[in-house]
Amino acid sequence: MEDFRFVNKTDIRFGKNHIDEELHDAVAQYGQNVLLAYGGGSIKRSGLYERVMKALEGLNVVELTGIAPNPKIDSVREGQRLAKEHDIDVILAVGGGSVIDASKVIASAKFYDGDAWDLVADRGAKSRQNIDQLPVVDILTLAATGTEMNPGSVISNPELKVKVGTYGPNTPAVSFLDPQLTYSVSKWQTAAGSFDIFSHLTEQYFDRANDTDISDGMIEGMMRAVIKWAPVALATPDHYEARANLMWASTMALNGLVRSGNVNGWTVHPIEHELSAYYDITHGVGLGILTPRWMKRALSAETVAKFARFGRNVWSIQEDDDQVVAEKAIQATYDWIKSLDIPMTLQGVEITDDTNFRAMAESAVKIGRLDQEGGYVNLTVDDVVALYQASM
Ligand code: NZQ
Ligand code: ZN
Repeated sequence: MEDFRFVNKTDIRFGKNHIDEELHDAVAQYGQNVLLAYGGGSIKRSGLYERVMKALEGLNVVELTGIAPNPKIDSVREGQRLAKEHDIDVILAVGGGSVIDASKVIASAKFYDGDAWDLVADRGAKSRQNIDQLPVVDILTLAATGTEMNPGSVISNPELKVKVGTYGPNTPAVSFLDPQLTYSVSKWQTAAGSFDIFSHLTEQYFDRANDTDISDGMIEGMMRAVIKWAPVALATPDHYEARANLMWASTMALNGLVRSGNVNGWTVHPIEHELSAYYDITHGVGLGILTPRWMKRALSAETVAKFARFGRNVWSIQEDDDQVVAEKAIQATYDWIKSLDIPMTLQGVEITDDTNFRAMAESAVKIGRLDQEGGYVNLTVDDVVALYQASM
């Protein structure tokens, strides 16, 4: 196990009965001037917007709307402008990962006079060292990213064709996690979100550290829960226990707990972020297409024992030969992703030619340091191009 420090101060309010009674005080404890951030309108269609406005009665509310999936830097810049102009005290982010991610960067950008993109491009260095950050309260409406309990944000800059992960000093101050709010999430986003959770778990499971049994055991349990409940949520969108297990899995998979003791080199995420940056595809779908191909590439004499453990403990494959178990586990992973109705090829998300693959691979390798022990197994630019090609 590696050395680690684990601190997480997010106040989690999980379940059916918190928002109407507790939202006002959870926000007002930080001040009167509130920036209410949300996306393209799902919160209006679901009635959540009215509930939020009722809870915020008496506070000064300024709205930032239209934060898009794969949130764009322009929304962050607009939020920075509003936060300064209205002397905002606290941000209330209502939505999925995109809304919450943008809100965290805005929370830092309020205290920064330059272009908000600087706070993304430097991967959060200035945000963590030199500038303050507003508290962010959120109401999560989609189980996927774990942003509700981590300090990370992923922001796209379409002009530069890049999508970059950055992280600030703080996790959200308060996160309201009501699984009922995810009943209205589409099948596509439910599948994508579920696989995003699963991918966060694989990125942390296939790690260079050895003998991380605490982390591995927690991850295996969460993987089994996602495998079990994602199909139930797809078949029965208002199944409370399915939505509740997925929501808590989202949070627990990426709040820092299961990475404690790991080396923490991620591989498939930087490779996927290029797909989202170039083609604006849904993050979890891109991960679903790439992950089994990456697993095939990563399986070797050095890694077979870990893949076999994954096969036995997650997929209940009972065979003696590690290589056989490992290969069956990768196939089981592929079959399960496919069963969620995730298209299993890049053509399925309308990426039909390979002209950008080299530039994307160069960027992924650089950002993820994939050729320098940044990931579980080293990958060169050629390897990443081959992965994209194998995904066509
Ligand atoms: O914009 P609205 O109208 O709200 O609609 C959204 C959006 O179209 C909709 N939606 C959300 N909640 C809904 C709903 N529709 C109906 N009912 C509801 N209850 O779903 C669509 C997708 O929303 P988005 O926020 O983009 O999805 P998600 O939560 O999957 O977030 C994806 C983003 O998070 C980043 C991804 O790269 C991507 O940009 N990630 C952030 C991470 C982090 N901060 O730690 C880690 C992840 O690995 C990931 O990279
Ligand atoms: Zn992810």
